[in-house]
Amino acid sequence: MDGMLAYFIAFLLGLLSYSFVRRGTRKPWQRARLPPGSMGWPYLGETLQLYSQDPNIFFANKQERYGEIFKSHILGCPCVMLASPEAAKFVLATQAHMFKPTYPKSKENLIGPSALFFHQGDYHLRLRKLIQGSLSPDAIRALVPSIDSLAVSLLNSWASGRVINAFQEMKKFSFEVGILLIFGHLDARHREELRKNYCQVDKGYNSFPTNIPGTPYKKALLARKRLSTTLCEIISERKERRLVGKDVLGCLLNYRDDKGEVLSDDRISDNIIGVLFAAQDTIASAMTWILKYLHDDPKLLEAVKAEQKMISETKNKGGNRSLTWMHTRNMPLTYKVVQESLRMASIISFTFREAVADVEYKGYLIPKGWKVMPLFRNIHHNPEFFPDPQRFDPSRFEVTLKPNTFMPFGSGVHACPGNELAKLEILIIIHHLVTKFRWHVVGSHDGIQYCPFPVPMHGLPARFSKESTS
Ligand code: HEM
Repeated sequence: MDGMLAYFIAFLLGLLSYSFVRRGTRKPWQRARLPPGSMGWPYLGETLQLYSQDPNIFFANKQERYGEIFKSHILGCPCVMLASPEAAKFVLATQAHMFKPTYPKSKENLIGPSALFFHQGDYHLRLRKLIQGSLSPDAIRALVPSIDSLAVSLLNSWASGRVINAFQEMKKFSFEVGILLIFGHLDARHREELRKNYCQVDKGYNSFPTNIPGTPYKKALLARKRLSTTLCEIISERKERRLVGKDVLGCLLNYRDDKGEVLSDDRISDNIIGVLFAAQDTIASAMTWILKYLHDDPKLLEAVKAEQKMISETKNKGGNRSLTWMHTRNMPLTYKVVQESLRMASIISFTFREAVADVEYKGYLIPKGWKVMPLFRNIHHNPEFFPDPQRFDPSRFEVTLKPNTFMPFGSGVHACPGNELAKLEILIIIHHLVTKFRWHVVGSHDGIQYCPFPVPMHGLPARFSKESTS
């Protein structure tokens, strides 16, 4: 018996020392453990919990329970969610090469696989530089008069006394600005074909992906094919006229890879649709929230009005009827309202990446192939960075913020190249809105709808009227 015990103890010691030696030779990330959290039910994970409630509440509860890094299992994928500024910076900027962008295949099929945001590395860098060129301060400065007149004519069309769906109307505006940015001037026939078919593609983004004829997804795929045909026509006309231009299409036509190869028409089309996708609902959602926040705070609305009326006066004194780039640079309160709206609404609540190898972050393992989600909204609503986070308070932006605590346009290699244009569009529309119109939200307007961007319930039905000038 004693012999047996000695043998057992020796075996145990052997096992312990073996695991100790192995532990010592393992790489740090092999010693790391998975973050805390629940993987939910087999197969389903926590998908039902996420989609059966407000996703913001789902993420906020998780953060409260597990802290700033936690694991979960959503839509068939294991994932790690990150709710701290440092972790978001780690994934999106400092270690961006370890995390590749990842989108559902169904979305990639509709937008087109060569669009900028599905890629990383050399192709992404070259394309991004070109697209950034068409969004440089000089390029967007030149768009101000056209955006200004688009804003005026859209707002005038609302003032008939009927109830409008603010989100859907704002989508019309951001689509038109998108077309302007991409093509400069575009003839009416092509514009109408793009509008009609893109509208159909848009309905497919959030529908169930199936090839069954008659379903929204299948209709969207067919519309996507028609879009390609129209875009190829526009591209070849532009090539024939040898007109390059500084718009997005002009910049894409300038693409050369390291062997001097140009982009195929299909790749150009994917990127055009990518820009339309990135630029439409985001701006429309932001604008709809701003309408609501200003409507809900009459004192703030009066202060914004006063700032904008001063600009109208300088405009009139200078004999200039149209807003200029310089005017938009001189709207300090309105600018803070835009920033606070972007924080409160956090239109892109989170983003997705996928770990390309095992990565260790603060002693936790992020395994290769797992999805990684920086949670922008949780950061924007953390009372440590934004005291009383549910209160709409533009004055928070009077002081310098802690680094990486405000990321409405993301961060790092995939950060939004359209952020200056987005703010410009919003400032122009606010200027005309508050100086010439009144609006009343119709019905109950609390609650959020996910389209999938957060939008005020029912798209914020509202009635607009022209303000009397007397
Ligand atoms: C309020 C409006 C907007 C918001 C809140 C917004 C937000 C964002 C965010 C958070 C990202 C990064 C996503 C990620 O890292 O996964 C992004 C990327 C992008 N945005 Fe925007 N965006 C807006 C408007 C625009 C506009 C007007 C354009 C027009 C050109 C645009 C074009 C893009 C593109 C092309 C990317 C991909 C960049 C890349 O992958 O390198 N966005 N946007």
